[in-house]
Formats: sequence, C-alpha cells, structure tokens
Amino acid sequence: MLVQNNCVIHVPFMWLVHRMCCYSMEGSIVRLPDLIRLKKKYKAYLYLDEAHSIGATGPRGRGICDHWDCDPKDVDILMGTFTKSFASAGGYIAGNKVCML
Ligand SMILES: Cc1ncc(COP(=O)(O)O)c(C=O)c1O
Repeated sequence: MLVQNNCVIHVPFMWLVHRMCCYSMEGSIVRLPDLIRLKKKYKAYLYLDEAHSIGATGPRGRGICDHWDCDPKDVDILMGTFTKSFASAGGYIAGNKVCML
C-alpha cells in the first residue's frame, strides 16, 4: 500500500482513495483532473468522499465533478452524506455496476 498526498493506492487492485474532496477547515479542493489522469495512467480505481463537497461545490452544487467539469463516469465510486449541505440524515454510495456488485 502506498500513501501519497492524501491518496491511498492499493496494489494489486490499485485503488486511489481521496478522503476529502473539499477540506472543511481550509476549503481546499482536490485537483480532480490530476487524480483522473493518475487513475488512468496506473489503471487504478478511484473512490471519492464528497461529504464536504456535495451540495456545496460546483456551479450547480453537484460536487467535485461539477466543480472541475469532469465526467462522473471517470470516478468509480462516489460517496456522500446528507448530513451536511442537505441538513438531513443518511448518505449514498454511487458507482458503476461492476464496482457495486
Ligand atoms: C470526510 C467525511 N466523510 C464522511 C463523514 C461521515 O458523515 P456523517 O456524519 O453523515 O456520518 C464525515 C463526517 O464528518 C466526513 O467528514
């Protein structure tokens, strides 16, 4: 397992995990296009935690893909919570069929 810039890369199934797309204290935002480039280069899977970005980031509030105008299909698993921007309870995990099985 490699740990680099808040990303965890697992071998042999190579996962890039970004724990926070948007840091709550500083408001810094992950450079998603760079992560997508890395994921494609190393044939890794990408998992993003949007707890602090969904509902708050991007011109339409749709999160980190909206912010960077990236295709959500380039992210294998997107996870978010309804307890912050949506002032509710619960959350979601979204991804393609292969990752969800
Ligand atoms: C990065 C991150 N992911 C997930 C969660 C979990 O959210 P919840 O409070 O809805 O369980 C939190 C909560 O603060 C968080 O900061």
